[in-house]
Amino acid sequence: MSTAPSSPALAIRPLTAGDVDDLMHIQSITYGSGLQESRDVFVRRLSCPHHCSLGIARQSDNRLLAYLAAYWSEFGKVTPLDGDFDPPPEHGRVLYIHDISVLPELAGQGAAQRMLNTLFDQARAQQVRQAALVAVQGSTVFWQRLGFAPHTVTNATQLQHLRSYGPGAIFMSAAL
Ligand SMILES: CC(C)(COP(=O)(O)OP(=O)(O)OC[C@H]1O[C@@H](n2cnc3c(N)ncnc32)[C@H](O)[C@@H]1OP(=O)(O)O)[C@@H](O)C(=O)NCCC(=O)NCCS
Repeated sequence: MSTAPSSPALAIRPLTAGDVDDLMHIQSITYGSGLQESRDVFVRRLSCPHHCSLGIARQSDNRLLAYLAAYWSEFGKVTPLDGDFDPPPEHGRVLYIHDISVLPELAGQGAAQRMLNTLFDQARAQQVRQAALVAVQGSTVFWQRLGFAPHTVTNATQLQHLRSYGPGAIFMSAAL
Protein backbone atom coordinates (compact mmCIF):
# COMPACT_ATOMS: atom_id res chain seq x y z
CA MET A 1 0.00 0.00 0.00
CA SER A 2 1.08 3.57 -0.54
CA THR A 3 2.16 5.71 2.39
CA ALA A 4 -0.18 8.06 4.23
CA PRO A 5 -0.66 11.57 2.80
CA SER A 6 1.61 13.75 4.90
CA SER A 7 0.70 17.16 3.49
CA PRO A 8 0.38 19.79 6.23
CA ALA A 9 -2.59 21.05 4.22
CA LEU A 10 -4.59 18.02 5.40
CA ALA A 11 -5.61 17.14 8.94
CA ILE A 12 -7.05 13.97 10.41
CA ARG A 13 -9.65 14.61 13.10
CA PRO A 14 -12.76 13.17 14.80
CA LEU A 15 -16.04 13.63 12.96
CA THR A 16 -19.00 15.47 14.45
CA ALA A 17 -22.60 15.89 13.34
CA GLY A 18 -21.47 19.20 11.79
CA ASP A 19 -19.60 17.19 9.14
CA VAL A 20 -22.72 15.48 7.86
CA ASP A 21 -23.23 17.60 4.74
CA ASP A 22 -19.64 17.03 3.55
CA LEU A 23 -20.02 13.35 4.41
CA MET A 24 -23.22 13.06 2.37
CA HIS A 25 -21.47 14.70 -0.57
CA ILE A 26 -18.59 12.18 -0.40
CA GLN A 27 -21.02 9.29 -0.04
CA SER A 28 -22.96 10.42 -3.13
CA ILE A 29 -19.75 10.13 -5.17
CA THR A 30 -18.21 6.97 -3.68
CA TYR A 31 -21.27 4.71 -3.31
CA GLY A 32 -23.75 3.40 -5.84
CA SER A 33 -27.43 4.26 -5.45
CA GLY A 34 -28.25 0.96 -3.72
CA LEU A 35 -25.84 1.76 -0.88
CA GLN A 36 -26.69 5.40 -0.13
CA GLU A 37 -27.68 6.04 3.49
CA SER A 38 -29.77 8.86 4.90
CA ARG A 39 -28.62 12.16 6.35
CA ASP A 40 -30.72 11.58 9.47
CA VAL A 41 -29.02 8.31 10.33
CA PHE A 42 -25.56 9.88 9.93
CA VAL A 43 -26.55 12.78 12.22
CA ARG A 44 -27.61 10.24 14.87
CA ARG A 45 -24.48 8.12 14.36
CA LEU A 46 -22.14 11.11 14.69
CA SER A 47 -24.00 12.34 17.77
CA CYS A 48 -23.83 9.09 19.75
CA PRO A 49 -21.17 8.75 22.49
CA HIS A 50 -19.83 5.38 21.29
CA HIS A 51 -18.90 6.43 17.74
CA CYS A 52 -15.21 6.91 16.94
CA SER A 53 -15.47 8.19 13.37
CA LEU A 54 -12.63 10.12 11.77
CA GLY A 55 -12.18 12.32 8.76
CA ILE A 56 -9.43 13.91 6.71
CA ALA A 57 -10.11 17.59 6.09
CA ARG A 58 -8.43 20.40 4.20
CA GLN A 59 -6.88 22.77 6.77
CA SER A 60 -7.70 25.88 4.75
CA ASP A 61 -11.49 25.52 4.86
CA ASN A 62 -12.04 22.38 7.01
CA ARG A 63 -13.68 20.66 4.01
CA LEU A 64 -13.89 16.90 4.44
CA LEU A 65 -12.17 14.85 1.71
CA ALA A 66 -12.41 11.41 3.33
CA TYR A 67 -14.28 9.79 6.21
CA LEU A 68 -14.33 6.63 8.24
CA ALA A 69 -17.60 5.98 10.10
CA ALA A 70 -17.01 3.62 13.03
CA TYR A 71 -18.09 2.78 16.56
CA TRP A 72 -17.40 0.52 19.52
CA SER A 73 -19.64 -2.53 19.28
CA GLU A 74 -19.78 -6.20 20.19
CA PHE A 75 -18.64 -9.19 18.19
CA GLY A 76 -21.03 -10.75 15.69
CA LYS A 77 -23.25 -7.69 15.36
CA VAL A 78 -23.82 -6.41 11.83
CA THR A 79 -25.08 -2.85 11.36
CA PRO A 80 -27.81 -2.91 8.71
CA LEU A 81 -27.74 -0.49 5.81
CA ASP A 82 -29.14 2.82 7.07
CA GLY A 83 -29.19 1.43 10.62
CA ASP A 84 -28.18 3.16 13.83
CA PHE A 85 -24.96 2.59 15.72
CA ASP A 86 -26.52 0.67 18.63
CA PRO A 87 -24.67 1.12 21.93
CA PRO A 88 -22.62 -1.88 23.07
CA PRO A 89 -23.90 -3.68 26.21
CA GLU A 90 -21.02 -2.41 28.35
CA HIS A 91 -17.63 -1.33 27.12
CA GLY A 92 -17.46 -2.04 23.38
CA ARG A 93 -15.00 -4.84 22.73
CA VAL A 94 -15.03 -4.62 18.94
CA LEU A 95 -14.13 -1.80 16.60
CA TYR A 96 -16.90 -1.81 14.01
CA ILE A 97 -15.94 -0.09 10.78
CA HIS A 98 -19.17 0.82 9.13
CA ASP A 99 -18.05 2.83 6.14
CA ILE A 100 -14.87 4.26 4.68
CA SER A 101 -14.86 6.67 1.76
CA VAL A 102 -12.22 8.76 0.07
CA LEU A 103 -12.96 11.37 -2.61
CA PRO A 104 -11.39 10.47 -5.97
CA GLU A 105 -9.10 13.56 -5.76
CA LEU A 106 -7.39 12.02 -2.68
CA ALA A 107 -7.61 8.33 -3.67
CA GLY A 108 -4.51 6.15 -3.82
CA GLN A 109 -2.49 8.40 -1.49
CA GLY A 110 -2.90 6.38 1.70
CA ALA A 111 -5.83 8.32 3.17
CA ALA A 112 -7.83 5.19 3.99
CA GLN A 113 -4.81 3.54 5.53
CA ARG A 114 -4.02 6.64 7.60
CA MET A 115 -7.53 6.78 9.10
CA LEU A 116 -7.58 3.03 9.74
CA ASN A 117 -4.16 3.00 11.41
CA THR A 118 -5.23 5.87 13.67
CA LEU A 119 -8.33 3.99 14.73
CA PHE A 120 -6.50 0.67 15.15
CA ASP A 121 -4.04 2.43 17.50
CA GLN A 122 -6.94 3.91 19.48
CA ALA A 123 -8.54 0.46 19.73
CA ARG A 124 -5.35 -1.21 20.98
CA ALA A 125 -4.86 1.57 23.54
CA GLN A 126 -8.31 0.64 24.92
CA GLN A 127 -7.51 -3.09 24.87
CA VAL A 128 -9.92 -3.62 21.97
CA ARG A 129 -8.39 -6.45 19.99
CA GLN A 130 -10.94 -7.15 17.28
CA ALA A 131 -12.35 -5.26 14.33
CA ALA A 132 -15.31 -6.12 12.09
CA LEU A 133 -16.97 -4.73 8.98
CA VAL A 134 -19.13 -5.49 5.97
CA ALA A 135 -17.15 -5.37 2.73
CA VAL A 136 -19.15 -3.99 -0.21
CA GLN A 137 -18.48 -2.79 -3.76
CA GLY A 138 -15.88 -5.54 -4.31
CA SER A 139 -13.60 -4.24 -1.56
CA THR A 140 -12.82 -7.67 -0.02
CA VAL A 141 -9.26 -7.72 -1.38
CA PHE A 142 -8.62 -4.23 0.04
CA TRP A 143 -9.62 -5.50 3.50
CA GLN A 144 -7.74 -8.79 3.15
CA ARG A 145 -4.56 -6.83 2.57
CA LEU A 146 -5.18 -5.15 5.93
CA GLY A 147 -5.56 -8.51 7.70
CA PHE A 148 -9.32 -8.99 7.53
CA ALA A 149 -10.82 -12.39 6.69
CA PRO A 150 -14.40 -13.41 5.83
CA HIS A 151 -16.43 -14.47 8.86
CA THR A 152 -19.57 -16.60 8.53
CA VAL A 153 -22.72 -15.06 9.97
CA THR A 154 -25.15 -17.63 11.42
CA ASN A 155 -27.48 -15.55 13.58
CA ALA A 156 -30.74 -14.97 11.66
CA THR A 157 -31.07 -11.28 12.61
CA GLN A 158 -27.46 -10.48 11.76
CA LEU A 159 -27.81 -12.37 8.48
CA GLN A 160 -30.81 -10.23 7.63
CA HIS A 161 -28.71 -7.12 8.42
CA LEU A 162 -25.93 -8.39 6.16
CA ARG A 163 -28.39 -9.01 3.32
CA SER A 164 -29.53 -5.38 3.46
CA TYR A 165 -26.30 -4.58 1.55
CA GLY A 166 -27.15 -6.89 -1.35
CA PRO A 167 -25.78 -10.25 -2.49
CA GLY A 168 -22.08 -9.29 -2.75
CA ALA A 169 -21.65 -8.11 0.85
CA ILE A 170 -19.24 -10.06 3.06
CA PHE A 171 -18.85 -9.84 6.83
CA MET A 172 -15.15 -9.73 7.76
CA SER A 173 -13.13 -9.57 10.97
CA ALA A 174 -9.52 -9.09 12.02
CA ALA A 175 -7.45 -9.36 15.17
CA LEU A 176 -5.82 -6.05 16.09
C1 LIG B 1 -11.59 1.77 -0.77
C2 LIG B 1 -11.10 3.20 -0.54
C3 LIG B 1 -11.65 3.68 0.80
C4 LIG B 1 -9.58 3.23 -0.53
O1 LIG B 1 -9.17 4.55 -0.22
P1 LIG B 1 -7.68 5.08 -0.57
O2 LIG B 1 -7.38 6.23 0.31
O3 LIG B 1 -7.58 5.27 -2.03
O4 LIG B 1 -6.82 3.81 -0.13
P2 LIG B 1 -5.26 3.83 0.21
O5 LIG B 1 -4.60 4.93 -0.57
O6 LIG B 1 -5.07 3.83 1.68
O7 LIG B 1 -4.83 2.44 -0.37
C5 LIG B 1 -4.78 2.34 -1.75
C6 LIG B 1 -4.53 0.89 -2.09
O8 LIG B 1 -5.77 0.16 -1.93
C7 LIG B 1 -6.09 -0.42 -3.18
N1 LIG B 1 -7.53 -0.40 -3.32
C8 LIG B 1 -8.34 0.68 -3.30
N2 LIG B 1 -9.62 0.27 -3.47
C9 LIG B 1 -9.58 -1.07 -3.58
C10 LIG B 1 -10.58 -2.06 -3.78
N3 LIG B 1 -11.90 -1.74 -3.89
N4 LIG B 1 -10.18 -3.37 -3.84
C11 LIG B 1 -8.88 -3.69 -3.72
N5 LIG B 1 -7.88 -2.80 -3.55
C12 LIG B 1 -8.25 -1.50 -3.49
C13 LIG B 1 -5.41 0.43 -4.22
O9 LIG B 1 -5.22 -0.30 -5.39
C14 LIG B 1 -4.11 0.76 -3.54
O10 LIG B 1 -3.21 -0.32 -3.64
P3 LIG B 1 -1.61 0.00 -3.84
O11 LIG B 1 -1.15 0.79 -2.66
O12 LIG B 1 -1.02 -1.37 -3.93
O13 LIG B 1 -1.53 0.78 -5.10
C15 LIG B 1 -11.61 4.16 -1.66
O14 LIG B 1 -11.25 3.59 -2.90
C16 LIG B 1 -13.10 4.42 -1.66
O15 LIG B 1 -13.57 5.41 -1.08
N6 LIG B 1 -13.91 3.55 -2.32
C17 LIG B 1 -15.35 3.78 -2.42
C18 LIG B 1 -16.06 3.45 -1.12
C19 LIG B 1 -15.87 1.98 -0.77
O16 LIG B 1 -16.12 1.08 -1.56
N7 LIG B 1 -15.43 1.75 0.49
C20 LIG B 1 -15.21 0.41 1.02
C21 LIG B 1 -16.49 -0.21 1.36
S1 LIG B 1 -16.39 -1.44 2.61
